[in-house]
Amino acid sequence: METLECIRSRRSIRKFKADEIDDETLLSLLESAIQAPSAGNTQEWHFFIIREQASKQKLAEAAMGQGFLVEAPVVIVVAADLEEIGRAYGERGRTLYAIQDTAAAIQNLLLAAWDRGLGACWVGAFSEKAVSDLLALPSNLRRVALIPCGRPAGMPRKPEREGLEGRVHWEHW
Ligand SMILES: Cc1cc2nc3c(=O)[nH]c(=O)nc-3n(C[C@H](O)[C@H](O)[C@H](O)COP(=O)(O)O)c2cc1C
Repeated sequence: METLECIRSRRSIRKFKADEIDDETLLSLLESAIQAPSAGNTQEWHFFIIREQASKQKLAEAAMGQGFLVEAPVVIVVAADLEEIGRAYGERGRTLYAIQDTAAAIQNLLLAAWDRGLGACWVGAFSEKAVSDLLALPSNLRRVALIPCGRPAGMPRKPEREGLEGRVHWEHW
């Protein structure tokens, strides 16, 4: 798919077919994710692959009952190593770059999935403690997002964008 067409047509997918996603496909998505820019090329991202039904159920509970996490054949938990980015950039690294770097990787992941005919959704509403407990994550890993991914079951309408009016500020000062 053309890059711009991929960006324009991508939408969040919350209904999935049961088809599995094989490791090779998954790794190709993650290869795209890690092409994202990161502060000083620190690449402090981590990706946890969740396929077990019981684990996905627990993730859905951690995400305020968002049941589509269970339907997806795979959920990717994206985390940022705050110690790693903090060593390079201190407080700014821990509080800002960690989020920006992983967000860039997540967007790449969403676009790569879409390009391959897969659907995904960026899920940010979840209890970080519950996810940390489930995966037994060390405290230096900030849990940034849950990304359910699979073959779309149907195509939702893309939520409209408001446009650039009032959002672009041309130089006039
Ligand atoms: C930081 C962030 C958190 C989000 N959290 C959720 C979420 O918890 N549940 C959900 O269904 N969608 C979530 N979304 C997806 C947005 O609702 C979605 O991107 C938005 O409505 C625009 O739709 P589109 O992605 O189809 O263009 C989140 C998106 C972002 C960027």
